[in-house]
Amino acid sequence: MANEALAQPPISSVAVIGAGTMGLAIARLFAGMGRSVRIYDERVSNLPELPGIEVCLDLSSCLMGAEIVFEAISEQLSAKQALLRQIQDLAGAVPVASNTSTFRPGQLAEGLVHPEAILVAHFFHPADVVPLVELVPHATTAASAVTITRALLEEAGKVVVPLSREVDGFIANRLQAALVREAVWLLRNGIASAEEIDAAVVHGIGPRWALAGPFEVMDRGGLDIWQAVTGRLFPLLSVEASAPEEISSRVVQGELGAKSGQGFYSYDTHSTSPMNRLDAVLRAASTPAAS
Ligand SMILES: NC(=O)c1ccc[n+]([C@@H]2O[C@H](COP(=O)([O-])OP(=O)(O)OC[C@H]3O[C@@H](n4cnc5c(N)ncnc54)[C@H](O)[C@@H]3O)[C@@H](O)[C@H]2O)c1
Repeated sequence: MANEALAQPPISSVAVIGAGTMGLAIARLFAGMGRSVRIYDERVSNLPELPGIEVCLDLSSCLMGAEIVFEAISEQLSAKQALLRQIQDLAGAVPVASNTSTFRPGQLAEGLVHPEAILVAHFFHPADVVPLVELVPHATTAASAVTITRALLEEAGKVVVPLSREVDGFIANRLQAALVREAVWLLRNGIASAEEIDAAVVHGIGPRWALAGPFEVMDRGGLDIWQAVTGRLFPLLSVEASAPEEISSRVVQGELGAKSGQGFYSYDTHSTSPMNRLDAVLRAASTPAAS
């Protein structure tokens, strides 16, 4: 793979499809590296001024000359599959890295003429700031598609974590979902409030996990201890198999969290929230990519 990466000339032209939260940030990331970036969104009229990024009025002009495409449209399987068919009609086997949060690349590639061109590059919001990108091929993704996507992302300063094979939720969202399932169980059973459960993460396991993942944490704590902890607690942990009522009932009420002003918390102002402060700190700490 390394030799193949060396043999590939660097990508100079990037197309981004979908100019929402993620697509705009992905476009900014590559424009900041001095790459030629074109972006297309079906709601073109909504697009703001984007310095260094060419806004296209149709898909075909966006794809012209693109050596790689980042797909960041809404999370609907049929819409993504239809778009991928259109991309391949217009641009053949150009590698397409989807930013999907939930679909496996094999699902996205179903029925395509060039399934080998499809993979997932799963960024985290804000995509131009958070280092991690999970890179997920499916069974027949071409090694060259993985290699050039990875080389470009690493050049952009991203920490690329490749998966050896596709799995629902990839790595980070599976880990997050496991924690959320247990957090909801603690809330439902009246063990602690949402604030108190959040505090246990923010002031306890969270800072530790910013420095070491679960395996290093186990090593440092002692595997004999973790044998006892997992053996005692695993049989007691939540095994809930559907979206929890605590989330679903709020969604029904239109309580979608910060974006609607109400979720588990009320949001009067976002400017001083810890998450916004984190965003600001990460932005300040991120070094500009070399052009
Ligand atoms: N928001 C996040 O935190 C986050 C994190 C990781 C991955 N993702 C994934 O990234 C993708 C985009 O998410 P987002 O939050 O940016 O969504 P968004 O709703 O902010 O933006 C999606 C954009 O895609 C456009 N669009 C929809 N269909 C299109 C089409 N056929 N052609 C062109 N444009 C089209 C919409 O007009 C919209 O502007 C989704 O797959 C999502 O699951 C989101």
